Amino acid sequence: MEFDAKEEIKSKLNIVDVLSSYIQLHKAGTNYKACCPFHNEKTPSFFVSPQRQIWHCFGCGKTGDIFTFVMNIENVDFITALKILADKAGVKLPRFDSKINSQNKTIYNIFTDVINLYQSNLNKNSEVKDYLLKRGLTENIIQEFKLGFSNDNWNEALNYLIDKGYTPKDLLETGLFIQNTNKPSSNNLYDRFRARIMFPIFNNSNEPVAFTGRIFEGSSPLKTIKNIDETGKYVNSPQTKVYEKGKILYGLNITKRYISQQNEAIVVEGTMDFLSAYLKGVQNIVASLGTALTIDQLTLLKRLSDKLILAYDNDEAGKMATERNIKLALSLGFQIKILNITEAKDISDFINILPDKLSEKITQSLPAMDFYINHGLSMYNTNNVSGKNEFLNYFLPKLKWEKDLIQISHYLNKLSAVLDVDIHAIEETFKTISPEETEDVYSKPSKNKFELDNSKLLRSKSESLSEIILSIFVQNPLMLKKLVLENIEFFNFKYQDLLALIKTKGIEIINDQTIDPLIKEIIDDLYINNVKYEDLLKQNEEIILAEINNFIKLLKQEHYKNKINDIQVEIKNAENRNDSVRINELINELNTVCKIINKLNI
Ligand code: UTP
Ligand code: MN
Repeated sequence: MEFDAKEEIKSKLNIVDVLSSYIQLHKAGTNYKACCPFHNEKTPSFFVSPQRQIWHCFGCGKTGDIFTFVMNIENVDFITALKILADKAGVKLPRFDSKINSQNKTIYNIFTDVINLYQSNLNKNSEVKDYLLKRGLTENIIQEFKLGFSNDNWNEALNYLIDKGYTPKDLLETGLFIQNTNKPSSNNLYDRFRARIMFPIFNNSNEPVAFTGRIFEGSSPLKTIKNIDETGKYVNSPQTKVYEKGKILYGLNITKRYISQQNEAIVVEGTMDFLSAYLKGVQNIVASLGTALTIDQLTLLKRLSDKLILAYDNDEAGKMATERNIKLALSLGFQIKILNITEAKDISDFINILPDKLSEKITQSLPAMDFYINHGLSMYNTNNVSGKNEFLNYFLPKLKWEKDLIQISHYLNKLSAVLDVDIHAIEETFKTISPEETEDVYSKPSKNKFELDNSKLLRSKSESLSEIILSIFVQNPLMLKKLVLENIEFFNFKYQDLLALIKTKGIEIINDQTIDPLIKEIIDDLYINNVKYEDLLKQNEEIILAEINNFIKLLKQEHYKNKINDIQVEIKNAENRNDSVRINELINELNTVCKIINKLNI
């Protein structure tokens, strides 16, 4: 049953389309390439073969199809990946649930139900609705992002969900409730979110997993909240088993495709910033919900784009978060710009004050280092030597975050011009500076998902040559059939089974789905590997033939060289045994092989 659904989905989806909704693919010959989403890299070693419907990373060695890709990138089990792809393919799945999945399913159901409650509360409360409309939101966006309202009540959501039949144990797992340890254990839960405008947070698979709630003080005093300063203007869900805070970004479930299309992500702090910018047509946006970005969040974004625009609040917290983001994002190879809001305290207020100026403002964002140069110049009087020093003390530690040598050189030159100081003096100073420390809770690198595949590194020449020839052969079977089949014995043993099969059953077997999986894997590799020989594949028939002929000659040479080694070992053994008959035989063999090699060596 599972197998059929899988094949059905595979036949309806193209790997290039599926992967493109997560990462940016660029055409490379018959294949596509990208920076690997599963390990950090700046130059692409991740390849996709539409012909075989597989992907492979030469960096981390991982290979797979659309299902393993979705499992890895969404961090979900096979069943969930199957569901996500079934949805994309429009394939209806028979019902089956894994245990873990059905547990999470209950949590998702609770969230879906409570979202309904909060939405209906909001619809009944014109005071809250008016507030949101006054802040520039619309009915449509309130609907699209499922905003709601939690009433000023200790047990509203609790009672609503208990009535729906959920157990207190299930409810506690959602993070929506707080346990009052002073009360008897049967009834000791109360609502975490009270008197708040509720913004649901969705994971990448569009399941609701958390909330962020903004306090709403209406005309009557609040009953369940005494001191807002204590509870906070905003309250976010705690970490739960479905909400790993550092791994989810607000809005990304909806905006990921715009981010990847535009190869640029605008990052803001708050939900209101996000929604009001989104309403203005800025769709390549996410909100980090009041904190700096984590390495996991940045890695998520890096799969979609390598450019970031940071548009954090114009206050101390916002500036500190921006610095931390820049440092971490530069180490991951992002290009970063800063959108500096001086006219208001944040994007949401900016849009309210200057509703038509947002896109202009975005185009004015400056590369991070230019931003800091301008800022430094406004703070210090660089007409005198001590001002120049102060400026350099401020700026150079930030430039240390930059890893790209060209960028560094560009800015050192710029400093020399701006400060009217000799470039060598600036370079020398730069060498003595240590990078500015930001508090570094997030910067420990997350572990690579896959171990490096050492077998790929230690390959014999015969294996490499066989791989080159056969990678080109599978793309041009008719042209190269004779050459390859006449020389089967010279290919590396790894390919012997495949070649024997092609010889008896014909070249068509390479597309046979029922073929031995080990052989299928070898064929897949050949399709992926041909990216290395892209240039050759582009040539005309004559050149390809000549090249392949040459490779086959090298392959033969390699074959006979190995043979000579074997014979020499055998001769040593025969000498040890004083077996003169065998020694003579072997010497004759050696002569024959040497003659063949000499002929090949022309
Ligand atoms: P602020 O505390 O600056 O909120 O947090 P604000 O912009 O003044 O709030 P409004 O505009 O009056 O509604 C900045 C943003 O960070 C998020 C919120 O979305 C907020 O808009 N935030 C802050 C959280 O999600 N959780 C927090 O605990 C704090
Ligand atoms: Mn704000």
